[in-house]
Amino acid sequence: MDYTTFVNEQVGELKDTVKDGLALNALSGGVDSSVVTALAHKALGDQLKTVFIDNGIMREGEPEHVVSMFSKIGIPVELVDSRADFLGALKGLTDPEEKRQAITDTFYRNVFSRIVKDSGAKYLLHGTILTDIEETVAGIKRQHNILAQLGIDPEKEYGYQVLEPLKTLRKDGVREVAKTLGLPDEIAKRIPFPGPALATRIVGEVTAERLDTVRKATTIVEEELKDSGAFQYFAVLLTDNATGIRDNKREFGEIIVVRCIESVDARTATATRLPWEKLEKICAQIVEIPGVNRCLYDLTPKPPATVEYV
Ligand code: XMP
Repeated sequence: MDYTTFVNEQVGELKDTVKDGLALNALSGGVDSSVVTALAHKALGDQLKTVFIDNGIMREGEPEHVVSMFSKIGIPVELVDSRADFLGALKGLTDPEEKRQAITDTFYRNVFSRIVKDSGAKYLLHGTILTDIEETVAGIKRQHNILAQLGIDPEKEYGYQVLEPLKTLRKDGVREVAKTLGLPDEIAKRIPFPGPALATRIVGEVTAERLDTVRKATTIVEEELKDSGAFQYFAVLLTDNATGIRDNKREFGEIIVVRCIESVDARTATATRLPWEKLEKICAQIVEIPGVNRCLYDLTPKPPATVEYV
């Protein structure tokens, strides 16, 4: 595919559709939403309002980092602090689907719907890609009908339009568009990060303390594997504990799993054959996190595993 033609066509289409109106866009910092942001900014300039919703389940320094990355390339992003909304909604939940649902509901029903209504925008941009649509149709993913999720009935609230400029692309295509748009490698080559963020990497309840543990482990894994060339790499916190021994005392500690995968589009994946020394180096740092005394490496391909744990 010729990605310059793709960019020009999408820019033209966005301009023709939005005309002199306002479009709203929620940036997550992932590749898909970053590319939508850059594409829509190219097409719409000031007629695009981009928000970054801090849900409190992001990686270390992520909200500030994403806003500053975009500020450097001239795209203003408004940071919305919604940490309390999300952590409140997740309190007490341990079931994976209930956790995901709570995050989706909080995002659409509480936080984003308020921003949509206050902004007066009639166009919502969404970073849906072809794989999302296929997995929704196949019943693997929950539906991506953003208007329904916002509680907006298109018949009644006629006028809202969802624009999905990446819906014909897969992840590799999205990265090509990022390059074509001149986005820095830091954005174009960012490893995928799921919308429900660290909640997909905490088995069991998501609490401030458990977030702190998985966040520290994530920083270690991302730093150590940033040059690995792998498709995706991260840390997971389990609910099981294991006996360990530290300073001559037995302790019942937390278990962190390291996952690192090779994949083209995340539909299938295999574990990366990381050098043993690298794994040992990661392990040595992970078990320094307070409360953690085991570090495991996940060898499972997708299928039968998924990439994430929740
Ligand atoms: P799974 O775990 O389904 O992940 O094998 C496949 C790819 O999708 C990412 N992922 C998500 N991305 N919202 C997203 O935007 C989600 O709810 C979500 N769940 C998983 C995952 O990181 C992997 O790259």
